[in-house]
Amino acid sequence: MKRIKIKDALQATPNQEILVKGWVKSYRSKQFVALNDGSCLSNMQVVVDFEKFDADIVNNITVGSAISVIGQLVTSQGAGQAVEVQATTVEILGTANPDEIAKTILQPKRHSMELLREQAHLRFRTQVFSAVFRIRHAMSFAIHKYFNENGFVYLHTPIITGSDAEGAGEMFRVTTLPLNDVPKDEDGNVDVKQDFFGKETNLTVSGQLEAELGATALGQVYTFGPTFRAENSNTSRHLAEFWMVEPEIAFADLNDDMDLSEEFMSYVIQYALDNCKEDLEFLHQREMKLDSQKPKTERNELPLIERLKFVVENDFERITYTEAIDILQRSKPYKKKKFKFPVDWGVDLASEHERFLVEKHFKKPVIIYNYPKGIKAFYMRNNDDGKTVAAMDVLFPGIGEIIGGSQREERYEELLKKCKDFDIPEEHVWWYLDTRKFGTVPHAGFGLGFERLIMFVTGMANIKDVIPFPRTPNNAEF
Ligand code: 4AD
Ligand code: MG
Repeated sequence: MKRIKIKDALQATPNQEILVKGWVKSYRSKQFVALNDGSCLSNMQVVVDFEKFDADIVNNITVGSAISVIGQLVTSQGAGQAVEVQATTVEILGTANPDEIAKTILQPKRHSMELLREQAHLRFRTQVFSAVFRIRHAMSFAIHKYFNENGFVYLHTPIITGSDAEGAGEMFRVTTLPLNDVPKDEDGNVDVKQDFFGKETNLTVSGQLEAELGATALGQVYTFGPTFRAENSNTSRHLAEFWMVEPEIAFADLNDDMDLSEEFMSYVIQYALDNCKEDLEFLHQREMKLDSQKPKTERNELPLIERLKFVVENDFERITYTEAIDILQRSKPYKKKKFKFPVDWGVDLASEHERFLVEKHFKKPVIIYNYPKGIKAFYMRNNDDGKTVAAMDVLFPGIGEIIGGSQREERYEELLKKCKDFDIPEEHVWWYLDTRKFGTVPHAGFGLGFERLIMFVTGMANIKDVIPFPRTPNNAEF
């Protein structure tokens, strides 16, 4: 007999024999077993008349155990489910010792998010995390779907790289040199010529520079892969290893880039609304319950699903950095000295400023563009004012910066000058500069922090809870 997934069994016509397999979530009086196989959030109720089964079987139907059940799918008499399975054959696939289960998060009761993180190898089995990771999957799929439908080429850019795209000096070194006995050159510096690649290499912080090479031939490309940043910031929005989505489009300026970011975000969020209903509804209800226990000021203004709809249905606000500074300087928290960080033209906006603009002032996603050139990366296009670059950040409620992008400096001389200003040796980026010599065109792109998107869509408050195995300072378990 062929196994049917619980997701399909719940929709199947009653009065037929089926085979289901899964893990026991819980049971009531040994008779009503809640079985889950990960195909959906809902469990299948399996009725096991224990008088008809060997003690061997009955005693091993415990929380966490894996079982295989053949039985009749029938309309359920009880409340809470439309159908149930009346078991005729039960096979124990994998036992789970109740004493050991009692020490884990598989014990069916409320556990803190911190404890769940410590048992990240088991947390997929919880409702919250199964919902989050099904949604994470759906969002990856939606991203590929959007780009495929819109004629983008998926480009796999290298993970090991010799260049620092963002120039922020937050790279993880990749080396096979013996760390206890590092070879030195005549000047006493590490002799990188003896290293595996014959040069200094690191894990990439962004696939953008390589994506630009692709875009200026293939027209429109995107990358979607892991990126690494050794930022020592243990916040709820930073990971040392995260996934980034980076589209890059030729024959495009900053406005085209902003349009793309908005259309793309609306598309993928709508995809979640259309395709992740059960999981979203569960997270929505969970958040409302948690919110009701919080003081009013800490609650979400809109519940989860309303927030998602709101983003899809409303245009993003677009303002320049200069306008943003102006709004902030005229704001109440600024006048009452409530901001911790300075608000002066030329200074990078802090998270508190971004959140004020998005959550208090505009109450919707905001795109800030034309930033001072001093606080942005070398590759961004100089604006004619001599002070700003054609950069843009997309800010989301509850998240802050979710996307960072720009129009790229396509003029050879200007780019060369910027490399000098940023101390980037020409011989490191000669290949990047070459694209500006052979048929250079205006082009633009952005990077979406995939985990920040998943935080927004699931309402999870900590970025560590939207990636299966988070990598953060002092933490690389599992
Ligand atoms: O703004 P960033 O640094 O932009 C770039 O890397 C560009 N090369 C992108 C491009 O134009 N192709 O990073 C892009 C996004 C941020 O907006 C944020 O959402 C996310 O990546 N991000 C992080 N997410 C999790 N943990 C971190 N440490 C992150 N750093 C950036
Ligand atoms: Mg950024």
